[in-house]
Amino acid sequence: MEAAQAGGAAGPESAATAPATTTVASAAERALWPTTALLLIQPISILPPPTVGRTTLGKRKREVGSRFNRQFGLSAGTVPVLPYPILIPPLAARAYRVAEETGFGADGGVSSSRPGVGALLAVLAAARPGGRMAELGTGLGAGAAWLLSGMDAAATLVTVELDADRAALARDLLATDPRATVITGGWEDHLPARAPFDLVFVDSGVSGRLDDEETAASVLELVGVGGQLVLDDLTPEAELHPPPAVDPKRAFALRHPRLVGAELYPPGTDGSVGGVRSGLLVATRVA
Ligand SMILES: C[S@@+](CC[C@H](N)C(=O)[O-])C[C@H]1O[C@@H](n2cnc3c(N)ncnc32)[C@H](O)[C@@H]1O
Repeated sequence: MEAAQAGGAAGPESAATAPATTTVASAAERALWPTTALLLIQPISILPPPTVGRTTLGKRKREVGSRFNRQFGLSAGTVPVLPYPILIPPLAARAYRVAEETGFGADGGVSSSRPGVGALLAVLAAARPGGRMAELGTGLGAGAAWLLSGMDAAATLVTVELDADRAALARDLLATDPRATVITGGWEDHLPARAPFDLVFVDSGVSGRLDDEETAASVLELVGVGGQLVLDDLTPEAELHPPPAVDPKRAFALRHPRLVGAELYPPGTDGSVGGVRSGLLVATRVA
């Protein structure tokens, strides 16, 4: 079932009259966004020798994390603390709060995209003025909120979620933003007809099936030439025991003849880099 667009048509008129949160944020607005690790900037330069320094850094990260979580009424440790300053768009902060309230991700299964992933999504979206973005697997809308935070007023986002309850929560969250459309259903049924997109966040669990030629082709066809795919939950090869002969996700993004891809590792919830499902693949379609 397709839902109505979250907040109305995203034409030039609505974009011009849209509230501040629906257009790309100004520097002044960004200055008001919550920050997870801003305090780390100063102390790093005056840290004592390494061992003591790491201890101090860890303590300070925990302090900053608790401050952020208190500010948003979240339990300790809900929002990860990163070893660099990162601004959390207000809608994404709300998505993290809803995730906590509803226990989304609490069982160690599917969960909201972390700020390190979201920040990259915002950067890529910001590089597409007037662009068409799509997301496979909305969850509770955190990834969508990050994408929207980077998009300009003329850009649009279609995000598809199989689970009706999650889709409803995400639709509520994104209802004020006319650029967003939340669809309830399977991406396979809704996105191909709307393709090609400029940027697609592949976050529905399909990446494990990319060794299937037909599935790989349907994901590839979601972007046009020059368009980009982002796949997350990548585990470093060194941590795959036993290492698979072929890792479908990596083979697709890094070896497909029509893609140029790179493997990236944003810092995890404790500020460390690497670890199970901590990585991303970003690939640009070249043919
Ligand atoms: C990891 S969560 C998405 C998190 C979200 N992208 C974010 O950034 O916060 C994966 C979601 O994909 C949904 N999903 C699974 N198969 C799907 C499909 N075929 N089409 C759309 N959504 C699907 C699941 O219900 C789940 O909510």
